[in-house]
Amino acid sequence: MEETIFVSGGRKLFGSVDVDASKNAFLPILAGCILCDQQVCLKNYVHISDLDLMRQILAKLGVASSLSGRELVLDMANLENNKLSHTLTQRLRASIFLLGPILARFRSAVVAYPGGCNIGLRPIDIHIKSFKALGAKIIEKHGYLYCNGENLKSGEVTLDFASVGATESLMMCCTLLKGQSVLKNVAKEPEIVDLQNFLRKMGAKVSGAGSDTIVIEGVEKLHGCEFSVMPDRIVAGTYLLAAATCGGDVEICGALEQHNESLLSFLRQSACNMVVERDRIRVKVDKRLPSIEKLQTLPYPHFPTDLQSQMLVLQCVCDGTCVLKENLFENRFGVVPELIKMGANIVLNSNTAIVKGVEKLFGADVFATDLRAGAALVVAGLKAEGYTTIHNPAHIDRGYERLEEKFASLGADIKRSKI
Ligand code: UD1
Repeated sequence: MEETIFVSGGRKLFGSVDVDASKNAFLPILAGCILCDQQVCLKNYVHISDLDLMRQILAKLGVASSLSGRELVLDMANLENNKLSHTLTQRLRASIFLLGPILARFRSAVVAYPGGCNIGLRPIDIHIKSFKALGAKIIEKHGYLYCNGENLKSGEVTLDFASVGATESLMMCCTLLKGQSVLKNVAKEPEIVDLQNFLRKMGAKVSGAGSDTIVIEGVEKLHGCEFSVMPDRIVAGTYLLAAATCGGDVEICGALEQHNESLLSFLRQSACNMVVERDRIRVKVDKRLPSIEKLQTLPYPHFPTDLQSQMLVLQCVCDGTCVLKENLFENRFGVVPELIKMGANIVLNSNTAIVKGVEKLFGADVFATDLRAGAALVVAGLKAEGYTTIHNPAHIDRGYERLEEKFASLGADIKRSKI
């Protein structure tokens, strides 16, 4: 039996929805736990498969964990393994974030090439080059990276491109390297600030996260701590865009203005009615919005690639034409043929989509090709007239906890079903 998400579309959304903790902050924080040999308690676990996978990977390294409701306790006292095999890393791109912490703890690591979302090549050359710049010797053989970190030393590294994962992995490694490390041209995403907050709670001396330079004074040891992970700005953005697409009146609790400024400024340009408070945003839409003329994805603080598919769905039903350019991942337009099946008018030209808004989308059988494409198709199904079946919801479960139940609580006619 195949699991699908089934939507009977056309209803507006009303009510209030909570945003869970951020997947992209949680993943590096889980990796960072192995920097200490004590216990870490993470307070607001999210039941999504990417986090479950990361826990399985940690278990292979010797980390014991117990989950009770949303509280996850990890015990690093018996960490014993520095090898990450193919079977697990193939399924999770973020497994590469473990390279830095493993190198810091063991001074050697054997890591299989990571897999993850089907959105492009996703090379790891920046990770490799940065660790080499700190003195690691890395050999690539048979799909594995063999890393010797005996001569790892603190120092200055300038990233060729502000990769989120490379910034996080490097930052974690440097917390245990003697002396001062200066990381330049790093990524500025809020998840990196959250990782810095977590590392500081473990006793690390890190500053500068959120700017393009991070400075780390190495310490001998880190200790256990308790921590609550920041809310997920991409999940918040998905709800904001769903409300703008479907219409209605939705309060998104845990949507933070400072993490979503670029999205909010685009929605304001579209005259989308929003009330922004300290820890929540309310969206009220009762008419068709005008298209955004031009939009492109770029690293934070600009418009995030992880919201591109959901924004594409909104533009499909706006009044006018939008030119949307994807600059980060070459396969992010997997959602386009599915939206065309639903009646969207989109022309793809390499990494640019030209979207002419249509009055209506129509229900169809569609296939989630990746995590964000899956969420976008759910939103398209909510807006469409008639029935939509979304196949491969496992992609959605990687990053959204019970997405269909959240939308059902806002009045949508949506359920998971087996066919
Ligand atoms: C993280 C996020 C992902 C988001 C992405 C960009 C997590 C778990 N995932 O992924 O959801 O879409 O940031 O905001 O936090 N690149 C290289 N060489 C490298 C590393 C990256 O060429 O060694 C390229 C990538 O192919 C991509 C760009 O740099 O084009 C950005 O990638 P990066 O910032 O590293 O993304 P991730 O950390 O994988």
